[in-house]
Amino acid sequence: MNGDNGGVSDADALRINPSILAADFVNMQAELGRIRSADFVHVDVMDNHFVPNLTFGPQMVERIQATSPIPLDVHLMISDVDRWGPGYAELGAASVTFHLEAATDPVALARRLRSIGSRAGVAVKPATPVEGLFDVLDEFDQILVMTVEPGFGGQSFMADQMPKLRRLADEARRGGSSVWLQVDGGISESTIAQAAEAGADTFVAGSAVFGADDPDAAVASLRDRALRAHRH
Ligand code: DX5
Ligand code: ZN
Repeated sequence: MNGDNGGVSDADALRINPSILAADFVNMQAELGRIRSADFVHVDVMDNHFVPNLTFGPQMVERIQATSPIPLDVHLMISDVDRWGPGYAELGAASVTFHLEAATDPVALARRLRSIGSRAGVAVKPATPVEGLFDVLDEFDQILVMTVEPGFGGQSFMADQMPKLRRLADEARRGGSSVWLQVDGGISESTIAQAAEAGADTFVAGSAVFGADDPDAAVASLRDRALRAHRH
């Protein structure tokens, strides 16, 4: 991990989290070995209910957790997350992010995740406003602003989410919050600077990393671009 506490005002505290959705599922261990400089491995759990796609559940995540040299950043795109979310913290994931739209009591769930020992994240789909989170920012360790409709890799980055990210970053800065601001969807060499300028400090990239000939070099190059944009 390259960051310390990851405060949004610390330009050096950026995280690049490759999404294994774009990796070869039957060679996961080898794929994890190709992203050694990553800060976290982003693990997309989809239930074919909250989103129209299906990936894997706790059994697979448990095996990834057991074999990965890099901590896990689990992104739950599942319904009934109050019930199923804590299990991912219990199996040892460093960070568990659930969708605001899927939780009945987001603050209670975040507290539960933290009490188990994981970081607690909350994600918002493109049509979901973030203002409702402003009063409870410190209940979370990470807020994920989706820059595509969740469900599939390889979609185009939604630049129209940048004003929302900017409002969130302003609010976090105003309140002195150390919450990490994550973006996920369509992050590449050509889009990462926009997200960094708008205030993101934690970047998920699937196809831009695993679609590259050298995934680890792609991580380094994304980090470099984000750092340069962040300093402006
Ligand atoms: C989409 C997932 C993303 C996905 C991103 O619903 O949450 O994590 O893997 O893939 P790219 O980077 O290819 O858009
Ligand atoms: Zn994701």
